[in-house]
Amino acid sequence: MNETKLKQLLDEMSLEEKIMQLVQLPGWAYEEGAAVTGLADDAKNENMKRLAGSTLGIYGADKVKKIQDEYMKNHPHHIPLLFMLDVIHGHKTVFPCPLGQGATFDTEVVRKGASIQAKEAAADGVQVTFSPMGDLVRDARWGRVVESTGEDPYLNGLMVSAMVKGYQGEDVSDPDHLASCVKHFAAYGGAVAGRDYNNVEVSEHTLREQYLPAYAEGIKAGAKLVMTSFNTLNGIPSSGNTYLMRDILRKEMQFDGVLISDWGAIAEMESWGFAEDLKDAADLAMKAGVDIDMCTEAYSGNLGKLIEEGKLSVDGLNEAVLRVLKLKNDLGLFEDPYHGASDEKFKKVVLSNESREIARDAVRKSLVLLENKKNALPLSGKRIAFIGPYANEKNLHSTWAISCDPEDAVTIVDAAKECYGDSDVVFRTAQGCNMLKNGTDLGMGVYEVKKEKKENEKLLDEAIDLAEWADEIVLCLGEHIGQSGESTSRAMIDLPKPQMKLFKEMADMGKKIITLVFCGRPLDLKKIPEKSDALLICFRPGTEGGHGIMDVLSGKYSPQGKLPMSFPWCVGQEPLNYNAYNTGRPKPQQRPTIFTTRYLDCPNEARYPFGYGLTYSDFEVSKVELDKKVLGKDDKITASVTVKNTGDSAATETIQLYIRDMAGSRVRPVKELRGFKKVSLSAGETEKVSFDITEDMLRFYTINNCWDSEDGKFTVYIGTDSATLNGTEFELKKQ
Ligand code: BGC
Repeated sequence: MNETKLKQLLDEMSLEEKIMQLVQLPGWAYEEGAAVTGLADDAKNENMKRLAGSTLGIYGADKVKKIQDEYMKNHPHHIPLLFMLDVIHGHKTVFPCPLGQGATFDTEVVRKGASIQAKEAAADGVQVTFSPMGDLVRDARWGRVVESTGEDPYLNGLMVSAMVKGYQGEDVSDPDHLASCVKHFAAYGGAVAGRDYNNVEVSEHTLREQYLPAYAEGIKAGAKLVMTSFNTLNGIPSSGNTYLMRDILRKEMQFDGVLISDWGAIAEMESWGFAEDLKDAADLAMKAGVDIDMCTEAYSGNLGKLIEEGKLSVDGLNEAVLRVLKLKNDLGLFEDPYHGASDEKFKKVVLSNESREIARDAVRKSLVLLENKKNALPLSGKRIAFIGPYANEKNLHSTWAISCDPEDAVTIVDAAKECYGDSDVVFRTAQGCNMLKNGTDLGMGVYEVKKEKKENEKLLDEAIDLAEWADEIVLCLGEHIGQSGESTSRAMIDLPKPQMKLFKEMADMGKKIITLVFCGRPLDLKKIPEKSDALLICFRPGTEGGHGIMDVLSGKYSPQGKLPMSFPWCVGQEPLNYNAYNTGRPKPQQRPTIFTTRYLDCPNEARYPFGYGLTYSDFEVSKVELDKKVLGKDDKITASVTVKNTGDSAATETIQLYIRDMAGSRVRPVKELRGFKKVSLSAGETEKVSFDITEDMLRFYTINNCWDSEDGKFTVYIGTDSATLNGTEFELKKQ
């Protein structure tokens, strides 16, 4: 439909029809006989269902078609209903959780993954995904760090952009693609003390330098929607924050797509004490430019009244409605209201070999090797014991993979069978302990050790017997799936007690121990690193988890993942990020002295810093060389290093470029990631790696409250993680 016809359609719509385009109903409203509002008012329910512009949570091609047919038949202008769902790391083929995707430092594998997720979901009736999450995260206590790609604005920006491109493709009307919604605008990840739904206090310059860039990259990549966040930002809830939504999002970032609230967020402005009542909340949200009210009655019950009272203009309403209609039109729904969904197509594309292969590749690239003493990995024993609650666990996906079937997942044991099938390696397995302590409250239910499952003591005895038999023990430990995600903040970020007990028993046996940790956040690993011969962080790897992990354990593939978030020594260091300030009293390199910034009882630095991760080989990075020492305005400096694989096997290392502005009109971080390159080298091979540095890479939000660079000294560092001290200075002289 062209723009003129779309406007004609808008003109023909009644006021009620228009208002209802801005209302999103939960999927259960469309289940037969369901009440939408919770009120015993059938006529009202039926009317809302007949006119609501969008719904969320429904998938299944036949189901969607049936609902769409019925809806369009009853809608006065036969406008299609829009179907949205959280497909954040997979529909049926589940990819590593976003934090794991961040660890790949590989935008192409992330883009491909998103395009597969889109293809499966679109064939199954989904039209919009509530992804990617561009929230910068620094506090591992927050449960939703699992949904982010980490603590660095530059890396997040690249990842968010890759995801948007993957979901949307070249044109969202293509039935293999979805419209993408960048969320949660803004700074949701900065919630105080990692407490979900909470207040965020950040200065203007930190907001702009750290928190906003990733969302901006998603918008630049063409995301069709943006979602408001639950938090207040400096005292103002996002869904009523006119400065954030109108001035920054619409004007500065030039976002002209649909702005949707998060679930219930408009009504929650009343609980926050920002809106007096639902009508006030609706007024504030419309003023801020929020187009769709997700699952509250704020808009449906009040926009009419606001127009009558003259608080909302019809033009203001029309503007929002037109954006929703335009989104439907961009998706091609006026021509094909199912957006290509069909059961036949779904069966063809779902969990295809190609999709599984790309997911497997994403898994092996996401695994981060933190320890590998005396080359404990790859596995070399003839008798291998896979012990622990994750050895044979199918729940390898993460939060929001509501549409997947865990039965499709490949466990480590499944993959070990394939890997060692024809060889002389024998492997056995034991659960070792239950995932959590019986009775642990996960908020959505208490974890119960099922009757048929054995108690921890018996499980431990079996594990000890097995460990005695084995040459090598692969201990498969981790957080329970329900321990990370929305509303899962943790004050203790360690492994569950039964698993720590199992670890201690195994470590005391003096055998070679390879520890795998499945997690949705950086953890306090306690004694695990010291007492393990190798330590591999697996995040939440998804459907192909077992395969990807065995590819690495067996040595078919050298690990290359890098931490997208710093791992602390203990929870007391949180929030923790590498790109911090130096302070006026930095801790000396040697012994910390009194009156410097320090903890008395733990280091200042991360236990494992951002960007850290080993391979099966060793790499040497030469000193940084610059082709010149002074950078002009439209100029570039080339910074180069020679990278040598000094180990005895081929591997891929990620060479990272960091820059420090030595003095600015506001203090500048000790380091900021500005680029990275993957280098694949065979044993003994060398390669020159170069990065161009240009003036725009040196800009920040200056004392003049604008993005600019300032003349002066900079240090450029090139290394294999954010702790590198391999640097040299240059100067910026714009005139
Ligand atoms: C979450 C969003 C999600 C939405 C819809 C909310 O609770 O914060 O991230 O997209 O629900 O499911």
